[in-house]
Amino acid sequence: GNKIRNAKLVLLGDVGAGKSSLVLRFVKGQFVEFQESTIGAAFFSQTLAVNDETVKFEIWDTAGQERYHSLAPMYYRGAAAAIVVYDISNQASFTRAKKWVQELQAQGNQNTVVALAGNKADLVETRQVQIEEAKTYAQENGLFFMETSAKTATNVNDIFYEIAKRLLQG
Ligand code: GTP
Ligand code: MG
Repeated sequence: GNKIRNAKLVLLGDVGAGKSSLVLRFVKGQFVEFQESTIGAAFFSQTLAVNDETVKFEIWDTAGQERYHSLAPMYYRGAAAAIVVYDISNQASFTRAKKWVQELQAQGNQNTVVALAGNKADLVETRQVQIEEAKTYAQENGLFFMETSAKTATNVNDIFYEIAKRLLQG
């Protein structure tokens, strides 16, 4: 039988890391060079078929600007999954991502599937965060890790698909 499983998913990460761009790529297959900074949060939904099951993601795309930080718990509490996003060409965004992981581990739900996305993987020439560094960090903290590019679409469907698989297993 074809079951539909609803899954609340939240994106967290520094301003400009590419959260909205990842969602736009996943939901609409689009990319814009001048994506506007998110105010508060934005909601999207998208379904994904995994074998004979369907996951319906209810996606909260949060704002990275610090002034919206206090809103974040509303979105990550009760989330089945979280994607913590940084920009591989921006070391400070990786530091910020680790802070989000800490906050999720301290204040979030133990069962939330957490993915770490090293976005803007197309910007290899200005890379500041090495893959090995992120991979090791992810392993040590029980996250799964992928480098993504909202611009080229690399690994965007894949990261959502991997989350969906883990949700269905769990
Ligand atoms: P806030 O909403 O302010 O928290 O930012 P955000 O994390 O949603 O970032 P957003 O998606 O708005 O992207 C910021 C900028 O980075 C935009 O100009 C995007 O076009 C660009 N961008 C996003 N993803 C990629 C990517 O994979 N590669 C490249 N080269 N640029 C990207
Ligand atoms: Mg945004």
